[in-house]
Amino acid sequence: MTDFLLACNWKLFCSPLQERAMLANLPEPKVPTIIFPSLLSLGSKHPGYQFGAQRMDLIDQGAHTGAIGAYALAELCEWVLLGHSECRARGDNKIAEKAHQARSLGLKVMLCVSSQELDTPNVDAVAYEPLWAIGTGKVATPELIAEAIAGIRSQVSQGTKLLYGGSVTPANIASIAQNADGALVGSASASLEGLQKLFTALTG
Ligand code: 13P
Repeated sequence: MTDFLLACNWKLFCSPLQERAMLANLPEPKVPTIIFPSLLSLGSKHPGYQFGAQRMDLIDQGAHTGAIGAYALAELCEWVLLGHSECRARGDNKIAEKAHQARSLGLKVMLCVSSQELDTPNVDAVAYEPLWAIGTGKVATPELIAEAIAGIRSQVSQGTKLLYGGSVTPANIASIAQNADGALVGSASASLEGLQKLFTALTG
């Protein structure tokens, strides 16, 4: 088993019932794998997998109707994704403060950025996702990935996992593994067949 980190951002591709069925039938993971299902499907466990939330609010426990806080997520999963461009586009901010709060409550943070500029270096993983590569079928070149990963690596502590995201598929993930510690995969990961194909592409 390689230690390439496969992070699966299921976004809102599936309904909660579809997600529940997928989570009940996950294949044996061939590499370290994190699933970020919709918030509605958090709380399941599966041997060999870790789970994470796609977003969180910067709030303490209390009277916050409709919000989701780190203290609640920490009971349900290991990771939280912060700063995804689709969340930033909807007004998500205070990413550094959220990262601090999440980690202080025991969550691991995967920070998403679309350039080498980090909201905070104090995270457990950084996913570099150029905006033009997300959901477009246009994957960054190996040179661009290597350059961005090197630039980000110079800012974070040793051991921080650096991932690439944006139109990752079974056809290109092995090449991405040459230049990054992992991949953050959207649509290609949001089915059991897709997940299996990604494992096969990584490990044969
Ligand atoms: P796609 O893999 O569907 O391009 O999505 C990338 C992404 O945004 C993962 O967080």
